[in-house]
Amino acid sequence: MRKHIVAGNWKMNNDLSQTAALISDLKEQEKTSDAEVMIAPSFTNLWHTFESTREDDIEVVAQNMHFAENGAYTGEVSARMLKSIGIRTVILGHSERRAYYNETDESLAKKVDTALANEMRVIFCFGEELADRKAGNEESVVEGQIKNALFHLPADAFTNIVLAYEPVWAIGTGETASPGQAQDMHAFIRKTLENKYGHQVADDMTILYGGSVKPGNAKEIFGKPDVDGGLIGGAALNADDFYAIVNAF
Ligand code: 13P
Repeated sequence: MRKHIVAGNWKMNNDLSQTAALISDLKEQEKTSDAEVMIAPSFTNLWHTFESTREDDIEVVAQNMHFAENGAYTGEVSARMLKSIGIRTVILGHSERRAYYNETDESLAKKVDTALANEMRVIFCFGEELADRKAGNEESVVEGQIKNALFHLPADAFTNIVLAYEPVWAIGTGETASPGQAQDMHAFIRKTLENKYGHQVADDMTILYGGSVKPGNAKEIFGKPDVDGGLIGGAALNADDFYAIVNAF
């Protein structure tokens, strides 16, 4: 079923004491919308965050994982490790991982398979770069990213996938896609799914927008019919701002 979700991607921010402080600020917030709230701290803070938010209406999710079940992959974290501390959802394919750690459609397809095989939910990120948009190629780039990493899956796998469209040029830049640009791309993404898997899969898909979402622009972006929520970076590091976005629905 399609849901409203607001997920905070903390990226490589917050040590343990900063994490504890942010969690205590988050606990003081009141949720007045129907959005599911997720937060994604770094690996070292996942367990603490999970334990400290057990009683709260917040899901703790991971920012990444490896595609192998286990083995000689120094510095990596597996699906099983995440699950063993209670984590049920993982962000995969963030543009920063694609750009700085050479994640490709092929390696992401494997990560998606491993996550789903371990009964985890995936927030799958993708989005075009500025040069793609300037060249008018944003739809073909996005279509390729989705097809190459996800279209080997059977239709029922999509109940455990959330899509996150994050145009690279809008991440951390203060420049947001306009609500119209976000809506156009989200409608295109839904159409792409419909062409392959039919109306029901497309209609049920939760599609998040990410890229400089702030309290001041969230309402307008979330007001678009094909935008089902947001993946929030910078503004998720402040509890007031994050819940202003959560409550923008
Ligand atoms: P900003 O909200 O800081 O632009 O980051 C978006 C993002 O990358 C979330 O994953």
